Parts: sequence; structure tokens; C-alpha cells
Amino acid sequence: MDENMLLQIKNLHVGYKTHMGISHVLNGVHLEVHKGERIGVIGESGSGKTTTMKSILRILPSNAIIKKGEILYNGKDVLKMSEKELLEIRRKKISMIFQDPTSALNPLFKVGQLMEDIIKYSYKLEGDEAKEMALKALKDAALPDPERVYDSYPFQLSGGMRQRVCIALALIGERELIIADEPTTNLDVTIKAQVLKLLGKMVRERNVGWIFVSQALGAVQENVDRVYVLYAGNIVEWGPAGKVFSNPLHPYTQKLFECVPKLTGKKFAKGIRGRIPNYFSPPSGCRFHPRCDFVMPVCKKELPKPVEVEHEHFVACYNYRR
Ligand SMILES: Nc1ncnc2c1ncn2[C@@H]1O[C@H](COP(=O)(O)OP(=O)(O)OP(=O)(O)O)[C@@H](O)[C@H]1O
Ligand SMILES: [Mg+2]
Repeated sequence: MDENMLLQIKNLHVGYKTHMGISHVLNGVHLEVHKGERIGVIGESGSGKTTTMKSILRILPSNAIIKKGEILYNGKDVLKMSEKELLEIRRKKISMIFQDPTSALNPLFKVGQLMEDIIKYSYKLEGDEAKEMALKALKDAALPDPERVYDSYPFQLSGGMRQRVCIALALIGERELIIADEPTTNLDVTIKAQVLKLLGKMVRERNVGWIFVSQALGAVQENVDRVYVLYAGNIVEWGPAGKVFSNPLHPYTQKLFECVPKLTGKKFAKGIRGRIPNYFSPPSGCRFHPRCDFVMPVCKKELPKPVEVEHEHFVACYNYRR
């Protein structure tokens, strides 16, 4: 096994049971994070980003069904771990920052109590030692006046401050992997950039692995080493961020970038025709084929195998078949 490999998702299939039947969302997702590596995951709303992230910590909603696949964390399959092993990972190794900082913090407790609870559980520290650790984490998250924040209820803080508290919580101790799922979506424009800068800086300084899920393509481009493009439950392209952003290969990635004029230098955003498919009866073959300008008969038959078009830059599309 590669000593540097932290997380390896292989061929993950996840669906949801609903009153309309089973929706087949993830259709063989794969993703790798090396130690200290910063990974971006991009794709339209509904493409399965959150489903993938929640699978890693096994915190999917109760109607989710993991049909097949492996999620190896330090070589061990998370999907086969006991509750005890999972708790250990959630408490000490991997932490997750969600979109909404309000719902992530229990409103009944002061920030200090919330933090000390986590510290007590994870590091068996109490009293002054726990408080010291909490204050340090708040200070590291660039919160002005950490003592005051420590003594506040979540509702007494602004949205930006609450998200910083979440970042502080996520980075307590010696985490190995931070998963941030749209961490700045609900924040004001001015605060967004600050929070992201802070998160990016802390992740770099501590050399922890980071999965940054976001629809803000510019922010992803600036902050990650490698990027994965998810379309309707399939990774359609992945590679070093510089290469993917300067030379997008998959017709879907190209369209996605055209939606952000700043990335392509064009004046108007074009948008992608059609919508993400219905997951109850998804398209056969490449799930993008109904929306693709370059569709060929083979695209409807079978899922394309990935091709390495340039060093470490892969695409799953029949237009690149060798
Ligand atoms: N509990 C659930 N039950 C049924 N379907 C669900 C459930 N949770 C998510 N889905 C469906 O799974 C698909 C993927 O959702 P997911 O939240 O993973 O996408 P996403 O890429 O994170 O989207 P967004 O960018 O909007 O956050 C969507 O069609 C969604 O409606
Ligand atoms: Mg999501």
C-alpha cells in the first residue's frame, strides 16, 4: 500500500429509498486523498457531492443504501468498521465542516461548553487544560477576543464568527482529514473570502488532508492541489488543479467552466442545456450523454473507462479513447 495514501474511495454506489422507488445516485465514485493533500470536488447541485462526503463518515440519512464499494481510510474499510472504530475516527481523525454553521452548533450550550465536551471526549482533558486547548483553537481560527466567544451562545455570534467556531472545532487536536462541504455558502460575500482564506491557511500550515467541496470554482482553483469533477454520481474527470482548470477535457467540465465567464475570459455565462438526470431511471452508459454535444452511439451503451490524457490528468469520455 502507498504509505502516503490517507483516503481511497473505490467504486462507490449509493442510492436512496424513497416513496417513488430507489434513486441510484452514486454510480461508482472514486477519489483519493494523500496525506496533507488538498482536494477539490466540483459539480452541479444534485451531482452527489454531499452524498459522497457523508459516506466517508457514515453519516448518511437513514434511507440511504450503500450498494457497493470501498472507503479505505489508512488502508481500512470504513464501511466495515465497528461503531467503536467509527467513533474513534469521527472524534480524532476526520472532521467535517458543513454549509450551515447555525445547525452545526447546539444552540443550548455556550461555545466553551461545546468545545470542552469535544475535547473531553476526544482527548480526555478537563478543566483548565481543556479550556486552554479551546481558547487556543479559537485564537488559531482568528476569532477576535476568544475569551468572549468562549463565553457566548452561538446565537450571540455573527454567521462568519459561527463558521470560524466550526473551523476551530474541526481543527482541534491532530486531525488528519478535514472535509469542508460548501463551508462558505451561507456567509456574506465579504466574510466568505476571509473564512476561506483562513481555512486554506490552517490546512496548509498543519499539513492535514483537505476535501473542499464547492460550487465556487474560482475558490477551488485557488485552494487545492487536485480536483475531481462529479457529474450525476460519476467522476468524469480528475487531475492536478492547474491542468483541469487550464485544459478541461470532459464536455461536462468544459460546459461547467463556461458557466463562469471569469474562468474562460468570455463575457457571458452560457449554462448547460438540460438538467441532471432523474436518478430513478438514469441514462444508460455515460450519464452525461443526453446533454452532450459530442455524443456518439457508444456513449449510450457503456460507462467509458478513464483515459490518462496528460500526466495524472484523467477523463472518462469516449472522445478520448485511444
Ligand atoms: N435523504 C435523501 N433521500 C432521497 N434522496 C436524497 C436524499 N439526500 C439526497 N438525495 C438526492 O441525492 C441526489 C444528490 O444529492 P447531494 O446532496 O449528494 O448532491 P450535492 O452535489 O451535494 O448537491 P448540492 O450542490 O445542492 O449540495 C439529489 O438528487 C438529492 O435529491
Ligand atoms: Mg451538497
